[in-house]
Amino acid sequence: MKISRRSFLAAMAAGAASTHATALLAADLPESLKVLGKRKGLNVGNAIGGRYFSDPAYKALMARECNMLVAENEGKWQALEPRQGQYNFGPADAMYAWAREQGMLVRGHNLVWQEAKWLPKWVNEFDFGAQPSKAAEALLRKHIVTVCSHFGDAIHSYDVVNEAVDPKTGGLRANVFTERMGALEQIDLSFRLAKEHAPKAQLVYNDYMRGDEGSAKHREGVLKLLHDLKSRGTPVHALGLQSHIGSWDDVSNGSKGQREWRKFLDEVTGMGLDLLITEFDVNDRKLPADVATRDAGVAALAKDYLDVTLSYKQCKDFLLWGMADHTSWLQEWKEAPRTDGQKMRPTPFDDQLRAKPLRDAIAAAIKAAPVRS
Ligand code: XIL
Repeated sequence: MKISRRSFLAAMAAGAASTHATALLAADLPESLKVLGKRKGLNVGNAIGGRYFSDPAYKALMARECNMLVAENEGKWQALEPRQGQYNFGPADAMYAWAREQGMLVRGHNLVWQEAKWLPKWVNEFDFGAQPSKAAEALLRKHIVTVCSHFGDAIHSYDVVNEAVDPKTGGLRANVFTERMGALEQIDLSFRLAKEHAPKAQLVYNDYMRGDEGSAKHREGVLKLLHDLKSRGTPVHALGLQSHIGSWDDVSNGSKGQREWRKFLDEVTGMGLDLLITEFDVNDRKLPADVATRDAGVAALAKDYLDVTLSYKQCKDFLLWGMADHTSWLQEWKEAPRTDGQKMRPTPFDDQLRAKPLRDAIAAAIKAAPVRS
């Protein structure tokens, strides 16, 4: 049966009103997302930030719903080595130890974030001396070897390289490494080092392309990068689909967005790569202020997106980038705020940890997904 986006939105709006009124706490929900996921061979995870790692109620919600953890910031180079040679593994170690106690898998995010502004300041200012390509390679090697050796088998899956493609041009972004080593060479080496020093981990290229017209160059660039890596024999296992989707995306049945998204995922999986949804949230900044309408719009888009993306059996992990609205990075992301000053509602639970229609939509999409082998 084909349900139109409009009738689905109306149905979700009705659902939104009732769910909001009954305000279900996670403990009252019949089945956790991780139990639903397990039935399908799908891991369900969440990015937890340091601020919320000391909140027992939030952690309990995460432990109930998820069997996978990623640190929101604590595993990044800026956090692990804020000054050259001064390592700060403590916060990530604590999170990963908790994950292990809970029986959760851990994703490492990330070894190298290509855009210069996300590299440590000292790396951007590093003196590469008379043999810059050798020095750049040595610095990259030291970082990846140190981090992979420190965490060892604790990491099930690594985002080895994050956001290497410039969405505007489809070309590879520049940074102190690419300028000295060549961009493809640096990305290739990062994967080879990760393979050598985290031999059991799944190795992922992670980026934020989507199905919309504005992402056309981004998709093209990511496909080119993946083809280039595959043809060099680079050990890349999967593409991370960040999935920071927005209410303006349209991937409903029959839409151009869905056609383009499928075409993209077909080509990626055709290369033998797996898929992961690594950072899911729904930006509601263009939806009206009314909470029920907004929550319904967010849920409807999520269902459309997840139905398409989870129809690929190669997609075996689904991770949220924050589970409750007050924990979402979007509340503080100044590049695209809501203009009415309202708090964003991009995650499946509200700031009181009550389930929202988005949580229903995610559960429904997992239930509708095929079983992974
Ligand atoms: C974001 C964090 O959520 C913020 O707290 C931080 O200030 C910036 O980074 N893509 C990624 C994530 O790969 O690492 C980003 O996380 C969100 C976009």
